[in-house]
Amino acid sequence: MAPLSASPATAGVSPSLRPSLVAYKKAAGLIPSPWCGWRRAAVATAATSSNRTAPAEIIVTGNDVPLLSFAEVAERLDEFHASGTRNQNYMAMYSSIFGGITTNPSAMMIPIDDHMVHRGHGVFDTAAIMNGHLYELEQHLDRFLKSASMAKITLPFDRSTIRSILIQTVSASKCTQGSLRYWLSVGPGDFQLSSAGCANSALYAIVIESPLLPVPAGCKVITSSIPIKSQQFAVMKSVNYLPNALTKVEGEENGGFTGIWLDDEGFVAEGSNMNVGFVTQSKELLMPRFDKILSGCTAKRVLTLAKQLVADGRLSGISSRNVSVQEGKAADEMMLIGSGILVKPVVQWDDQIIGSGKEGPIAQTLFSLILEDMRSGPPSVRIPISY
Ligand SMILES: Cc1ncc(COP(=O)(O)O)c(C=O)c1O
Repeated sequence: MAPLSASPATAGVSPSLRPSLVAYKKAAGLIPSPWCGWRRAAVATAATSSNRTAPAEIIVTGNDVPLLSFAEVAERLDEFHASGTRNQNYMAMYSSIFGGITTNPSAMMIPIDDHMVHRGHGVFDTAAIMNGHLYELEQHLDRFLKSASMAKITLPFDRSTIRSILIQTVSASKCTQGSLRYWLSVGPGDFQLSSAGCANSALYAIVIESPLLPVPAGCKVITSSIPIKSQQFAVMKSVNYLPNALTKVEGEENGGFTGIWLDDEGFVAEGSNMNVGFVTQSKELLMPRFDKILSGCTAKRVLTLAKQLVADGRLSGISSRNVSVQEGKAADEMMLIGSGILVKPVVQWDDQIIGSGKEGPIAQTLFSLILEDMRSGPPSVRIPISY
């Protein structure tokens, strides 16, 4: 078996700079000075080349795959992070594997033998960070722990410890606006299918800074051709999001924002990672029932906040029931609802223009109400972070 660190003959010299590879890289215009320079060149080539696999082949060709020490791996991870490949700013990560928080993005890793990685045996959830407060953390935590129970994941800590870890991670991040994402996994141990060999379940959390707020701009959606998850899997927030990702991609490929799923009876279900709401012609706020889809924390909060629009006469009522495609497409307004987008008006569904074809007034008002709730809502939805 190959040694895990450089042999004495090459000690002190990065194995990645062995002569044959250096010559090859020089010939290819990938001068290693320092070694990370050629990697940057390779990345640049990847971005411009029509054969996008070529640079990867340069790195892994034949016998030239470098054997790296732990320090060299760390160095390369730093370089990977510095290369700008990541689009978001990762401010802090907690891992129960190393039992602490790091603010170094290069160290934000999870073990490859974690069953969440190779079997999808994990669940996750999120919470927005707004003005130094966590929004609806308790509500998201309820769903998180319910998902874990449905996925037969034993909790590594009790609820109050998990809550405390999440809050401490946000505190360590110093992030005042962004999002917190967290995962519970059956844990690492082996590459079997059964989790019997996983000694301990794992908790991971990451804080992502996002200075920009969503805007309630109108969008187009399309009916998804990707099969919806069965009820058992749709109501839990597991890491098995391939159908969701493909629905999103399909929506984008068709010039839309996302795809909309119909349920097994043909009723409106939900979007790729958001719920759907309508304002009917009789001014009723209408949402599909949550029994076959994910129970959205934002959608539930919208249902509560919308009561004031019933009180002031802008809505005639609020209801949660089956919604046919015909009724949905004939609605005065349609909107997507979720913690990433808050409330996003839909102005076109497939070929059907919704309502006036412009962002609806109720959707825009609900967006403002949710945003206001995030900024100054009651303590039941806002947990202050001490930094
Ligand atoms: C499938 C699905 N439906 C709905 C939602 C909306 O849920 P929330 O408002 O809690 O973000 C999400 C969000 O992640 C989702 O993934």
